Amino acid sequence: MKKSLVVLAALATATMMAVPASAEGELIGIAMPTQSLERWNRDGSYLEEQFKAAGYEVDLKFSDNEVDQQVNDIQNMISNGAKLLVVSAIDGEALNTVMDEAVEAGIPVIAYDRLIMHDGSSYYVSFDNYTVGTLQGQFVVDTLDLENAGDAVYNIEFTAGDPADNNAGFFFNGAFDVLKPYIDAGTLNVVSGQTDFDSVATPAWDTQTALERMQNILASYYADGTQLDVALCSNDSTALGVTQAIESDYAGDNTVLITGQDGDEANLANIVDGKQSMTVYKAVANEAVVTLDLAKAILAGDTIDAGLIDASGWDFECAYDTESYNTSEGHNCPSFLLVPTVVTTDNLQEALVDPGYYTMDDDGYLHPTN
Ligand code: BGC
Repeated sequence: MKKSLVVLAALATATMMAVPASAEGELIGIAMPTQSLERWNRDGSYLEEQFKAAGYEVDLKFSDNEVDQQVNDIQNMISNGAKLLVVSAIDGEALNTVMDEAVEAGIPVIAYDRLIMHDGSSYYVSFDNYTVGTLQGQFVVDTLDLENAGDAVYNIEFTAGDPADNNAGFFFNGAFDVLKPYIDAGTLNVVSGQTDFDSVATPAWDTQTALERMQNILASYYADGTQLDVALCSNDSTALGVTQAIESDYAGDNTVLITGQDGDEANLANIVDGKQSMTVYKAVANEAVVTLDLAKAILAGDTIDAGLIDASGWDFECAYDTESYNTSEGHNCPSFLLVPTVVTTDNLQEALVDPGYYTMDDDGYLHPTN
């Protein structure tokens, strides 16, 4: 073969490897829960951007936190010929019918960030949700130096997430497991007595619901001047409501330690202003990278296991886990789990601005770049 032909053949092979000819132009359905909770806007645009750049067509839908609408949106994706679905469920238990339809049509489904409790979830891509909670709990332990608290007693209240979201229990359990020894020892005191997930859960992760519940707690247990030291909130949308309730309805003069998760713009502003203590940031840009590479491998018919991580060359950590996430049907869903990061006023620049996720304005406030 002449040299030029060898080069051409090599180029053709390289092109085919970059975008498998069969994948070119194939339709990917991406179902995100809602645009009203900030992070899903970022997830949606990263996913759309990356799948399009890889040569796929994308049908991206946000379903307004309405289960029926999400079912409908996914059904449309199936009938429009989607070859693969990426779904972040509004209610992990409520997609059985449409998942049956996907299975019947032979369409693989990647459960994105939130597990779908049906065996049709081919794979799960998320962050290590239990670790998110442990990071929040450990932040409380370290900030208050609970190990060396002596006779001091700190008052704490919990606010967790949506019971329909499989992640919510993982976040709450992670935090609670770290804090329980201090509750048992009397160093932490849950004045309301509300310590089980169902009592502290927040349907739809709704800010207003979290605000009203905290107002009730403050009126019932703290109106006499009892000091509140910690509001352990599972994420930023709930932390926002809790912070507002504390600002308007808490008579104490101490700063309440408030946790969160996601790096929502308003919460980062609260961190800069000293109203929220930390957030757990999850680089959803990387979550989209894992999802794309996994989708490519599934569509190419590759064997999927930890080898995907070795082959990927990702410059971030990700674990392959076949044990932690079980569907309601009792099977393990093979999972790719990324690693979350604690963000406080001390590392806004390195954790969020330097990697390009946010810009910082002249007043020190952060704004997402996508
Ligand atoms: C996500 C969190 C988010 C919450 C509400 C969860 O499933 O993992 O990052 O805060 O949903 O949007």
